[in-house]
Amino acid sequence: MDANAWDERYAAHDLVWSVEPNRFVAEIIGSLTPGRALDLAAGEGRNAIWMVEQGWSVVALDYSAVAVDRMRSLAAERLVSDVGRLTPLVGDATLAAPGDPASYDLALLSYLQLPADEWRRALRAAVTAVRPGGRVVVVGHAGRNLAEGWGGPSDRAVLYDPDEVLDAAEGLPVSVEQSGIRERPVDTDEGERVALDTVVVVRREG
Ligand SMILES: C[S@@+](CC[C@H](N)C(=O)[O-])C[C@H]1O[C@@H](n2cnc3c(N)ncnc32)[C@H](O)[C@@H]1O
Repeated sequence: MDANAWDERYAAHDLVWSVEPNRFVAEIIGSLTPGRALDLAAGEGRNAIWMVEQGWSVVALDYSAVAVDRMRSLAAERLVSDVGRLTPLVGDATLAAPGDPASYDLALLSYLQLPADEWRRALRAAVTAVRPGGRVVVVGHAGRNLAEGWGGPSDRAVLYDPDEVLDAAEGLPVSVEQSGIRERPVDTDEGERVALDTVVVVRREG
């Protein structure tokens, strides 16, 4: 999907994703000391807004202008006087991130499902943006989800298992803190189903 297709998808619904942060984002980032974060492909900002509520200052970028407008409105409602700690931007996650290299404590890639080349560029941009000792958190629909899990894109080319994320990180200055497939229960009209997500955390080395 390109930016126009995402604009249309966002414009067709009041809220495409949940108001709450993704459960793995909350679990991992909730245990970290707040600092300066970058949310690449932030969508309507469910994770970015939650991070600001936890004390982070967040630059949240998405190439859908409709999503970024919605993030701004949701942030104004939810964050009130803390809204200044969220910087929503329209931009491409596969290009160099806004701000100086090595200037963030954390970068998040949450359900950014791109073909391998573009995905690799987004991961590189995220790693380049974080300081030594900072982390890049990746959460996404797993390749295995296609056959064994519920929902998510049906194009295998935009799904990634943990080993594919680690392959994409090959040559980047990172060490792996955690990497695996996690189960995410989803309420559907047919009852509860289980989605399989890839969750990887890498730490930037000096
Ligand atoms: C499945 S949504 C996830 C949104 C958000 N990260 C979350 O977890 O709620 C994927 C998002 O990626 C954005 N996106 C896809 N390719 C992008 C790119 N190259 N640069 C910036 N945003 C992109 C889309 O506009 C969409 O908002």
